[in-house]
Amino acid sequence: MTMPTIYNFSAGPAILPESVLRQAQSEMFDYNGTGFSVMTMSHRSDVFMSILYHAEQDLRQLLNIPSNYRVLFLQGGASAQFNMTVMNLANGFDRVDSVVSGNWSRIAHAQMGKLSPNVDIHLAAHGGDEFDYTDVPMPDTWDVSADSAFVHFVINETVHGLQYRDIPKAFHDQMPPLVCDMSSEILSRPVNVSDFGLIYAGAQKNIGPSGATIVIIREDLLDRCSDRIPDVWNYKSHVNRQGMYNTPATYPIYISGLVFRWLQSQGGVEAMQTINALKAKVLYEAIDNSGGFYTNKIAPRARSQMNVIFHTPSKELDLLFAQESTTRGLRLLKGYQSMGGMRASIYNAMPLQGVEALIDFMGEFQKRYG
Ligand SMILES: Cc1ncc(COP(=O)(O)O)c(C=O)c1O
Repeated sequence: MTMPTIYNFSAGPAILPESVLRQAQSEMFDYNGTGFSVMTMSHRSDVFMSILYHAEQDLRQLLNIPSNYRVLFLQGGASAQFNMTVMNLANGFDRVDSVVSGNWSRIAHAQMGKLSPNVDIHLAAHGGDEFDYTDVPMPDTWDVSADSAFVHFVINETVHGLQYRDIPKAFHDQMPPLVCDMSSEILSRPVNVSDFGLIYAGAQKNIGPSGATIVIIREDLLDRCSDRIPDVWNYKSHVNRQGMYNTPATYPIYISGLVFRWLQSQGGVEAMQTINALKAKVLYEAIDNSGGFYTNKIAPRARSQMNVIFHTPSKELDLLFAQESTTRGLRLLKGYQSMGGMRASIYNAMPLQGVEALIDFMGEFQKRYG
């Protein structure tokens, strides 16, 4: 029996471009004639400093990051940013505005105040309840104050499959800086970085392996970072030491750099936007045209182009779908534990053929059980 092509629909850590993994494989024992692996070289060596430099420059090019923004590759995942943003940017402020539109912004909201008891984490908007988010609260309904330190939101909710398709930006002159968790969509479409005070993203969805967290911060906000904050949690300390305050996640940064090069070779984020829109369109069409066999209840304006959720008519069939699809090479489709159903994560590295294979299987499954 021939093995089916494997398509990895994991929400994260997620699929990486095959060519990137092959290059990493070929360089595993000898990076660029150095005689050793990137994993085993000093983070302060010229070779690694060059890897870091080029990763940053390529990311800058891809996202068109203005020169008044600094780029950091930190550790601690996106979760650490829930607190770092408040510790650093809310210094001297009483209030942070927080938008809850799904699982991750709900967790962020609950965590943000924990090390900053004097800051009110104000619920600026709420899109649903713990298990039922079906639309995103539109920015013009957010209750934000000019006196807040910043407004926090998650642009793509990985668990609930919701996305701000129109990218939020300041909707009045007095708007505090926007702080955005872009973990599960960064580099999937162009964004205007200048619309944000700070962007952060864990690498393990649309960039590279877990372990590196990208932070893009507007320079003037660094003035808010108090020296009382321990250096390892202090954006200014990391910036002042060229991102080398302590040992960064060297290997994930190296792989991220390879992914940035791959993205450039594919035509950059504009090209990604086109293909991502097509992948999502055909998949949602397959759901909507199934006569109700497959369902997705997210409002069309908020359907994620990265994480597509769908259910069959019953829990039993959901389970069967997950099992049978696995044997057909369509891997890790089972939905998040609290959500049930299926979640197809179709990040940049998922080729259109993977989505087409999934759609073919969906049709076949429906014929057998519909
Ligand atoms: C949107 C979003 N934010 C935050 C997180 C948490 O990321 P980490 O596990 O890197 O802390 C995730 C992880 O799935 C996520 O999808």
